[in-house]
Amino acid sequence: MTEPKALVAGNWKMNGLTASKQEIEKLNSMISENGANCDVLICPPATIIGLLSGNGIEIGAQDCHMKVSGAHTGDISALMLKDLGCHYVIVGHSERRSDHGESNDMVKSKAAAAQEQGLTAIICVGETDDERENGEALDVVTSQIKESIPEEAVAKNTVVAYEPVWAIGTGKTPTVDDVAEVHSVIRNLLMDRFGDEGASVRILYGGSVKASNAHELMSVSNVNGALVGGASLKAEDFYGIIATYQ
Ligand code: PGA
Repeated sequence: MTEPKALVAGNWKMNGLTASKQEIEKLNSMISENGANCDVLICPPATIIGLLSGNGIEIGAQDCHMKVSGAHTGDISALMLKDLGCHYVIVGHSERRSDHGESNDMVKSKAAAAQEQGLTAIICVGETDDERENGEALDVVTSQIKESIPEEAVAKNTVVAYEPVWAIGTGKTPTVDDVAEVHSVIRNLLMDRFGDEGASVRILYGGSVKASNAHELMSVSNVNGALVGGASLKAEDFYGIIATYQ
């Protein structure tokens, strides 16, 4: 099976106002002029998904509820995201896991809810600083993968993002050998889970990716793209990462 087409996804987190539409338009014209040899996705806050959709850039979400509708004040369902034109939703980001106490079980239910609506779930995993120091990184990532991917998931509607928690927003990145080791473990787990189709699942690396380190990180075996926080907010910075795939 050939390598999956890379995906470079921006996670805007709690950043972005209506004026951010200009950034999307700018990114779209940079891609139109200079090209992009990868899929490109921006996941803005839910408040501006509707505004940003339909401007040439694929727009996704950062989270969804596990139910389709009902008495869940403040929550947003995968059906609502689909209704806005989303095809992707991030689930289990480490900030959701820590700020909102999301367990693997909850992440699995959210991924299943997204996939039931025909969306692709970007399922995030990654160890903390202490877990890496204690030599537990591979075990933690293995159990997160096993426990967060829904039973009904198929290769086509699944993306995995490996984001070491200690590398997020810190400017620190793992060595390429460490990235290669974790991504290879994830690939093997996906092959066990999906058979041959496991080779087609994209495994993104995330955590302090920027234009200056993207080439090195994106060249690692089994790295099929990036999940980018800070460096996705400005079109120029984000395009610098996309351009790695020219
Ligand atoms: P960062 O965030 O690129 O700002 O480190 C990545 C993420 O949390 O997805």
